[in-house]
Amino acid sequence: PKITYHHASGDVDTVEVPEGTSIMRAALTNSINGIVGECGGQTMCATCHVYVRGDVELPEISDDEDEMLDCTADDRLGNSRLGCQVVAGRDFGDIEVSLPANQS
Ligand code: FES
Repeated sequence: PKITYHHASGDVDTVEVPEGTSIMRAALTNSINGIVGECGGQTMCATCHVYVRGDVELPEISDDEDEMLDCTADDRLGNSRLGCQVVAGRDFGDIEVSLPANQS
């Protein structure tokens, strides 16, 4: 699967990742700025906030994710997700996300 990150600056990064890799983990592994992932994917920090672009059907937001999405540094929008909760292969084939300007 491929993940494309659109930075707030307008820069774009695309990476190919193994199935089972979350949007958060893929960014950290590939040194892509704009995602912090402070809690390591435990749904406890909201520093992996992303805006999903386009018409991708993703699994429902869990209660834990929903709660943390209310704590994002930049505004929560209708397409907001936690990058650690959305996983390549399991939840999407290819995906494009916009990164918020701030994660904390
Ligand atoms: Fe902390 Fe996603 S990495 S909530």
